[in-house]
Amino acid sequence: MNQEKFKRRDFIGLVSKTSILGLAISPLASLANPATESKDALPATDHVFLTPPYLQHPAPDSMTLMWITAKDCYSWVEFQEREGALKKAHTVTDGMVNANDRLHKISLKDLKPGTTYIYKVFSKEILSYEPYKISYGETIESSPYEFKTPAANADEVSLLIMNDIHDRPQSIPQLMALNGNDPYDFVFFNGDIFDYQTGEDQIIKNMIIPCTTSFASSKPFMFIRGNHETRGKFARQLPAYFHNIDGGQYFSFTRGPVHFIALDTGEDKEDNHPVYAGLIDFDTYRKKQAVWLETQLKSKAYKKAKFKVVIMHIPHYHSGDAHGTLHCREVFGPLFNKYKIDLMICGHTHTYKVHPAEEGHQFPIIIGGGPKDGKRTLIKLKANQHQLSLRMLADNGLEVGNFELNR
Ligand SMILES: [Fe+2]
Repeated sequence: MNQEKFKRRDFIGLVSKTSILGLAISPLASLANPATESKDALPATDHVFLTPPYLQHPAPDSMTLMWITAKDCYSWVEFQEREGALKKAHTVTDGMVNANDRLHKISLKDLKPGTTYIYKVFSKEILSYEPYKISYGETIESSPYEFKTPAANADEVSLLIMNDIHDRPQSIPQLMALNGNDPYDFVFFNGDIFDYQTGEDQIIKNMIIPCTTSFASSKPFMFIRGNHETRGKFARQLPAYFHNIDGGQYFSFTRGPVHFIALDTGEDKEDNHPVYAGLIDFDTYRKKQAVWLETQLKSKAYKKAKFKVVIMHIPHYHSGDAHGTLHCREVFGPLFNKYKIDLMICGHTHTYKVHPAEEGHQFPIIIGGGPKDGKRTLIKLKANQHQLSLRMLADNGLEVGNFELNR
């Protein structure tokens, strides 16, 4: 990035005492040692960043930044257009500035579409939080990064899709490297990035750090759950570490000529299976999503879009006859056909393949592979006003599937 243009002196006066970005976890060390220790094992005793900032929820007029610190803090972002005035942002909830937390989420609003912004994040330690006396410690600041907001009414869109990483953090930079320098707008994670949720440390080491090492401080990612993200003791805390459009686990958005619908397909077994011990209710959740799905399929944004793409983890065909597959087929399947989606992108089976339209699904289903070497894939989706094209690359760089649709 162009660091010269990020005027360091602009920060003097705003920040009383700062130190250089410190990561409690070396990115390289964490990539070399995929681990799943609990949060308690984190060797973070100093006031340091546990992750660099990672970008979420991109929109033409906003961008959300998240990061994690070892200590409870008050955090803010300082940002500017190139050559523009420096601005500061923090989050206010119900009249109170968000503070005294380690997980930080700040949405920058009223941004200009298609514009590059340079930013740093800051976290000031809160040493004690008494009812009538709050004591601050030192402030740490990140390196400068930059991002570009999506253009308003863009003609094109380009994204990279990964799925079924299954706690293999090295796969994220390795698959991203397959893209080379080909421009893209954002990354989409289509579920089963983890085996099951053990704690914050796992999220940091196995997803956030590999993402920020590869791209995520300057390009945003979106993330929907697979069946494995609903398992483990930290599954209920996982959503707090990400911020999707509309803040939920399923959402829709238009980028360029494509309307995307992302669904959360839930667990693969019956809700009353003993391994869930009575603590899940995905049938009701999928039915609720189906009602929402039909409102999306009837929406102007969907009807107007040149291309209509659904992304979800469990394909409702070509993934056996487990309950999750069959229930998705029952509640979502008829809607996909009735409203004529163009394409579905899935994971789950660990066997990459392009399944052409056939009886049952009147559109192709592209399934990305993983998680073992030789079975992993990077899916590249691009669309302009005339053509949508998808290429699926295996981890040796060879194309193992493609799809094209012309208007
Ligand atoms: Fe999987």
